[in-house]
Amino acid sequence: VSFEVQLSQYAKLVDNRLKHLLPSPKETPCELHEAMQYSCLSPGKRLRPALVLVSCAAFSTDEKIALDAACAVEMIHSFSLIHDDLPALDNDDLRRGNPTCHVKFGEAVAILAGDALFALGFEAIANMNLPAERVVKLMKILTRSVGTYGLVGGETLDILSENQTVSTVTLETIHLRKTASLIAASCEMGAVCAGANSEDQERLRLFGEKIGLAFQIADDVLNETSTAEVLGKAVGSDRELGKATYPTLFGLEPSKRKALELAFEASNLLTHLPNHALLDEIAKYAVNRLK
Ligand code: FPP
Ligand code: MG
Repeated sequence: VSFEVQLSQYAKLVDNRLKHLLPSPKETPCELHEAMQYSCLSPGKRLRPALVLVSCAAFSTDEKIALDAACAVEMIHSFSLIHDDLPALDNDDLRRGNPTCHVKFGEAVAILAGDALFALGFEAIANMNLPAERVVKLMKILTRSVGTYGLVGGETLDILSENQTVSTVTLETIHLRKTASLIAASCEMGAVCAGANSEDQERLRLFGEKIGLAFQIADDVLNETSTAEVLGKAVGSDRELGKATYPTLFGLEPSKRKALELAFEASNLLTHLPNHALLDEIAKYAVNRLK
């Protein structure tokens, strides 16, 4: 089975479970639930949940035990995209090829749908059928990766740095928090579900951090070189908003080289694991979009 097919099978597994975990649009408040489903089930790569599952499977453990952790990560990711697209933040009209949540449902419902997805993610983890110790560990990893030391802090730095001169250190901090932290958490959470030892948990986190950074650099490059039709979201928006990116600081070719290097380093961390081939493929995939 090819890598793409495997990834789409994981995406289907995640989407079926998400449909079950997300509140029904028939239940009140219907509009809120509709907006949650609209964003969380819109056609995306489901890369982060796949990383939870594949990281668990890397230890030759049945990945289905990690399914709700995978769904939780996608809910958090979906919350972050909804809020990122709002007029007060990036003000984008297009996401995953469709109108953004606030364009479709209005700003108030979009903000609240993001909030509710954020909460539901943690509820999904709290309800997992795993030893309590592992559940607490999952909570710790996820909360840390979305708060000020993760998504929210990174997004804040990103917004406040618009039209500012940004040092390479600050740029790396933004990328690490805004994008790499949730990807790293996904990998580490997969390892925790599998009951991996603390060294391996740490290796998976580092693997995720490297491919997360590579992924964001690739995203920056594609924002300059790709088209809205291919990406399903606006291009050239970083430049318009005066955002510091890898390509603006280092140039396109050095940025591509950096991303490829990071993906290579990431794979080298996992050679000892019984079942690491699929993680290697994902590392390559994170940067292959550049070729
Ligand atoms: C695209 O993911 C998303 C990113 C590269 C991450 C950008 C980071 C943010 C928007 C942080 C926002 C944070 C807050 C708190 C508002 P993807 O290409 O995997 O998208 P897909 O899921 O549609 O495939
Ligand atoms: Mg954006």
